[in-house]
Amino acid sequence: MSTPDRSIHLEDLSRTFRVGSSTVHAVQDVSLTIPAGKLTVIRGRSGSGKTTLLNVLGLLDRPTTGSLRYGTTDVLRMGDHDRDRFRRNEIGFIYQTIALVALMTAYENIDFRMRVAGAPLEERERRVPECLHLVGLSERATHRPFEMSGGEQQRVAIARAIAHRPRVIYADEPTAELDTVTGIHVVAIFRRLIEEEGITVVMTTHDPAMMELADHVVEMENGKVLEHADDPV
Ligand SMILES: Nc1ncnc2c1ncn2[C@@H]1O[C@H](COP(=O)(O)OP(=O)(O)OP(=O)(O)O)[C@@H](O)[C@H]1O
Ligand SMILES: [Mg+2]
Repeated sequence: MSTPDRSIHLEDLSRTFRVGSSTVHAVQDVSLTIPAGKLTVIRGRSGSGKTTLLNVLGLLDRPTTGSLRYGTTDVLRMGDHDRDRFRRNEIGFIYQTIALVALMTAYENIDFRMRVAGAPLEERERRVPECLHLVGLSERATHRPFEMSGGEQQRVAIARAIAHRPRVIYADEPTAELDTVTGIHVVAIFRRLIEEEGITVVMTTHDPAMMELADHVVEMENGKVLEHADDPV
């Protein structure tokens, strides 16, 4: 029996914005396959289209043209309700600016995301401590964001993004605000998730130190993918 296809397939994907009378081709005719269970890094200058592409992949935005499949599932042909549910259950997002709920503790931030995905209380009580442990923050469970360092907040954001066991995590410059050592620590957490939970991780970065830890690097320039080097190992 063959294993199911869990890769993400993009074909001629474009996202165009109209601003007044001008048109911005933020993402232009991108075709590529993002391998399942690997760390893919998207790199490129500011304005090259990385966030736009990530938002389309993560179903936060729709492409202007092109196709996007998760395995054999054509996610763009799903109805709004099914697509929202797919995003809530199968996808985790980590934003460039850490978007934790300020009034909630680390524990509550993670628990809340699992509730959104419909996880029952028992499962949440088991899973939230497990995720805090995974990112090395068991001791900070009752801290609110302002009672944690930037790196700790980013790790809570990671714990929150993985708690509902998504298939794919999209991380938009998750290490931008961190020093190199903390940044490498964050990427090491991604590697562990890939190995232990079989998750697919796609992250954008400007940092060459992070690119060395990737399985797969996609380079963007002016909305297009330049090179698409396969697993160097
Ligand atoms: N909502 C929008 N409306 C109009 N233009 C947009 C919109 N979002 C992005 N753009 C434009 O699309 C291009 C790509 O933007 P995007 O945010 O994807 O770049 P990026 O590679 O993530 O850059 P950075 O490294 O600075 O985060 C830019 O020229 C930007 O100005
Ligand atoms: Mg960006």
